[in-house]
Amino acid sequence: MRKIAWLVLMTLLASAPVLAQRLSDQTSASAKVHFIENLLQQMTLDEKIGQLRLNCVGVQSPREQLLQEAAASRVGGIFYAVGRADLREFQDAAMGSRLKIPLFFAYDVIHGHRTIFPIGIGLASTWDMDAVTLAGRTAAQEASDDGLDMVFSPMVDITRDPRWGRASEGWGEDAWLSARYTATMVEALQGSNLGVAGNVMASAKHFALYGAAEGGRDYNSADMSLPRMYQDYLPPYRAAVRAGVGAMMLTYIAINGVPATSNTWLIRDLLRKQWRFKGLIISDFNAVADLVSHGVASNGREAAMLAIKAGLNMSMFDTLFRDELPDLVRSGAVSQEEIDDAVREVLGAKYDMGLFADPYLRIGAVSDDPQDIHDESRLHREQARDVARKSLVLLKNQRNVLPLDRTAVIAVVGPLAKSRLDILGNWSAIGSAAQAVSVYDGIANALGAPERLLYARGADVTDDPQVLNFLNAPGANPADVEVDPRSPTSMLQEAVEVARHADVVVAVVGESRGMSYEGASRASLGLPAYQARLIQALKATGKPLVLVLMNGRALSIGKEHDAADAVLETWYSGTEGGNAIADVLFGDYNPSGKLPVTFPRSVGQVPTYYNHLNTNRPYQANDPRAQTSRYFDEEYGPLYPFGFGLSYTQFSVSDITLTRHNLNRGEVLGASVVVKNTGPRAGATVVQLYIRDISASISRPVKELKRYRRIMLQAGEEKTVSFNLSEQDLKFYNAKLEYAAEAGAFSVMIGLDSRDVKEARFELF
Ligand code: NOJ
Repeated sequence: MRKIAWLVLMTLLASAPVLAQRLSDQTSASAKVHFIENLLQQMTLDEKIGQLRLNCVGVQSPREQLLQEAAASRVGGIFYAVGRADLREFQDAAMGSRLKIPLFFAYDVIHGHRTIFPIGIGLASTWDMDAVTLAGRTAAQEASDDGLDMVFSPMVDITRDPRWGRASEGWGEDAWLSARYTATMVEALQGSNLGVAGNVMASAKHFALYGAAEGGRDYNSADMSLPRMYQDYLPPYRAAVRAGVGAMMLTYIAINGVPATSNTWLIRDLLRKQWRFKGLIISDFNAVADLVSHGVASNGREAAMLAIKAGLNMSMFDTLFRDELPDLVRSGAVSQEEIDDAVREVLGAKYDMGLFADPYLRIGAVSDDPQDIHDESRLHREQARDVARKSLVLLKNQRNVLPLDRTAVIAVVGPLAKSRLDILGNWSAIGSAAQAVSVYDGIANALGAPERLLYARGADVTDDPQVLNFLNAPGANPADVEVDPRSPTSMLQEAVEVARHADVVVAVVGESRGMSYEGASRASLGLPAYQARLIQALKATGKPLVLVLMNGRALSIGKEHDAADAVLETWYSGTEGGNAIADVLFGDYNPSGKLPVTFPRSVGQVPTYYNHLNTNRPYQANDPRAQTSRYFDEEYGPLYPFGFGLSYTQFSVSDITLTRHNLNRGEVLGASVVVKNTGPRAGATVVQLYIRDISASISRPVKELKRYRRIMLQAGEEKTVSFNLSEQDLKFYNAKLEYAAEAGAFSVMIGLDSRDVKEARFELF
């Protein structure tokens, strides 16, 4: 009897913190600290170490084993599992554990969850924070409805090298713009209170500089000066911290020789001390074990020790924390305090996610489970179509071949035209290809006249055996390229024949989604050979030719640009991509997307980005033979500049009016232009303001984006667009890493892309 009473008492005591927390004010920081300290005191070393593990069901951890680990508090979070019923089983197991510490559930929700939105570089082409908010809010709601608490996004790595396959996931090449997108997405995902269903914790990634991996080769390293790092690469991560991001995922790569996972400077000095980041720090997949391949740890034990000492809180996938930390602590190599510090962050994240108040907050009750998790009613098609339309960038439109005439006979050609898988893009969470609208479907829906819609595949995405071998490798995720049994020549002939019977040809070409993905770096940036041949053959028919590009990075497509009458960049535009593309092709929506990256003319120009330094010998347009900083065997400059994108109407931009030419600190300088819609129809555009510090203590970029405004103008309408600048906008990190504005001359430039700008000058005193 006494034993039973004791058991009851112990059970009550064990669950006391949980009950107490339910009653406490979620927003109270001291209540949170008190709750966590109380819980921590009751935990054994093994339970603590369990909290530091983020694991998934797999060969290494079969489902039964993971359930047992959850029941014994030997795992803190689960990823790659999705759906309420599935997650409930894990949470039930955790609720059976001694201290009833809930698990959290995470997933790669990168650009949508069930409803897939455009990939990151596509969202970044909107220059529209409302569109990003809509995509983020929808994804958060859908992820939460599927029981998820955390998403491994946003991906905020600056990319200046399109050879990197993950250029597709981020916001492009500009730090200032990326920082804004990052903050917007974090706020959209997390909402104003993480403790309620419908909001999920964001985990920004990959801290830091993943996009600067040498040569665009994934997993390579970055060596970089501190001023460049602070100025051009770190702002998006910092913006995530300022926006209150709950978690930060470390990059795989080594920064100035030290892998992020064991990089004390990066984690403790920069992220924790300088930026005062208060959230959870997680590793990337297997990254602790990878410290051995990096050559900074001689074995798993050392790897686990380095990572925890550097400040990593939670390790994703590998089991080294579980296997090595207990003995590292017993031997004194790792202190109890180091473990406790990490555990506090994990518990703190769970507290913030509302899981101590209700472990089933997002999983919900069985009675509310959807019958079919893929049910059409769970999609948000309207939102996806709206955002996708905004992400499309019109790169060329000669002789007004677009919008298409609805009475024309249209030939849709190309290996990506009918693909419902590729249009979703990589990292498409649990978006279903069966529910996606291909470009062909979208055109068919809009045309509504099957007799005037012709189709030919024309070519496979690629016929290169080496490339196919990579893309279609067993277990490749996503499994990729469909190979047509017909010969390339017969496919080409069919396409040419079909084109001859049409009034206009729409060729949907580019990369399969696996070509722009993790681990998918390219040494070339052109269209694969057979697709390039297809474009030339279509051009030779003399029919008006519209290219619809589907790809995840900037491509070098000079020849195709020359061959085509119109070029529309569509990235991977998601579930409603085909309808959105048709909206633009037929003129039901006037495109206004702008490139967030520079398109090079050839791969040899890479890295090429708009905010480069001037050098001692800048290119001289009036003397191309001079020895200047350029490639003599390539035309100077990009194929399409950063910020570029056309509309079905035209705009003019007046000269700049400045409110003053001398700016004292504390004062505001106004810069304005008059933008006029000189074309035949209403349209939106993005007015962009750049500055240049003409002479400073270190060489400064020829242009840096500082402001932009999206405006809508009716035909013939004009608007004055005014921007205010102050000392704050002129600051940069100098050689001593001081963030300061230096007195002297500045140039202010305003235009509708980064190349074609008006200029005025002023002086800072
Ligand atoms: C590795 C990737 O680098 C990261 O972005 C992703 O979130 C994790 N795997 C989990 O899938």
